[in-house]
Amino acid sequence: MKIAVLPGDGIGTEIVAEAVKVLKALDLKFEMESALVGGVAYDAHGHPLPESTLQLAKEADAILFGAVGDWKYDKLDRPLRPEQAILGLRKHLGLFANFRPAICYEQLVDASSLKPELIAGLDILIIRELTGDIYFGQPRGRRVATDGHFPGAEEAFDTMRYSRPEIERIAHVAFQAARKRSKKVTSVDKANVLETFQFWKDVMTEVGQQYPDVELQHMYVDNAAMQLVKAPKAFDVVVTGNMFGDILSDEASMLTGSIGMLPSASLNSKNQGLYEPSHGSAPDIAGKGVANPLATILSAAMMLRFSLNQEEAAQRIEAAVQKVLAQGLRTPDIYSEGTTKVGTAQMGDAVVKALG
Ligand code: NAD
Ligand code: IPM
Ligand code: MN
Repeated sequence: MKIAVLPGDGIGTEIVAEAVKVLKALDLKFEMESALVGGVAYDAHGHPLPESTLQLAKEADAILFGAVGDWKYDKLDRPLRPEQAILGLRKHLGLFANFRPAICYEQLVDASSLKPELIAGLDILIIRELTGDIYFGQPRGRRVATDGHFPGAEEAFDTMRYSRPEIERIAHVAFQAARKRSKKVTSVDKANVLETFQFWKDVMTEVGQQYPDVELQHMYVDNAAMQLVKAPKAFDVVVTGNMFGDILSDEASMLTGSIGMLPSASLNSKNQGLYEPSHGSAPDIAGKGVANPLATILSAAMMLRFSLNQEEAAQRIEAAVQKVLAQGLRTPDIYSEGTTKVGTAQMGDAVVKALG
């Protein structure tokens, strides 16, 4: 078994180092190989996703990814920007199913900006479609407007699109996930305005008929954004498109206490997976040793579960994370009065120790 380790930019290197520490401490039989990705790869090789990095990712059984991006690359042509690396990996490997579980650990109920009673016991699963939607639709670009409110003016445009098979396969993923949980799926759309999402809703309903034991609810994305902070525990599995899923998962991360707590798994049809925290490279805190590594460590646990067939090891990591939280250790993003503030490496060390 081989894991491709792609730390990337900013806090990516700091948090991945802690996840690697935890993986090594498990003493399992797998090989790890690192490569540059994102801005650091652009600096070294002139491209955010060098061919050698892509090859390593393709050959690996699983990929552990940190984060990419930095403000200093924002003026580059789009194909050379660090973010293209993660988009390229998702596209080239066909990683269409993105699982972002928002779980509020008992010890972190006070870390959230929401009232404790709203989030205590929260366990929802956001399933984001990851290789379609306005993220990848063509055409896109800039041109001179020939119609609209200002004909003759410079304009920019993107294309939102979903094909039937793309919606069907993510629908099956969601219904099957719901079968293992509380048998309820909320499909989030904007069918009242967008043709793409009326189609999404129609196909979801059709696929839902094959799962009579699972309750399917449809909700507009604006309402879903509101309900997520009003009564988050009313949700179980949430399935949605690429862009809405991006936004709603960042929102949901605050239900868990911090974006530093939200792991993710991105799977293709062969169950090959890329595992990364849901957050970015956090340039504002990079290099300070204060980033929360737990989302990445929990992503490594998802990797053991979904791609490496090591359920027991996955559970060991998850139990160790809960143990350090119970010990009161907190990076600044989840700190609350009466707990002990620690840095990134101290948190990783504590998880290793808690593995027993
Ligand atoms: P971000 O997620 O990097 O940061 C948002 C805020 O959350 C910041 O205040 C940051 O300090 C904080 N934060 C994020 N992760 C944290 C952690 N582990 N511990 C503590 N605090 C944490 O989002 P942004 O600032 O909008 O984007 C920064 C860069 O990251 C951009 O270049 C963006 O494109 C990129 N990005 C990359 C990915 C990815 O690689 N998958 C995901 C999101 C954003
Ligand atoms: C994420 C990120 C990415 C996305 C960016 C960096 C391309 O925000 O993984 O959530 O929008 O998917
Ligand atoms: Mn995002």
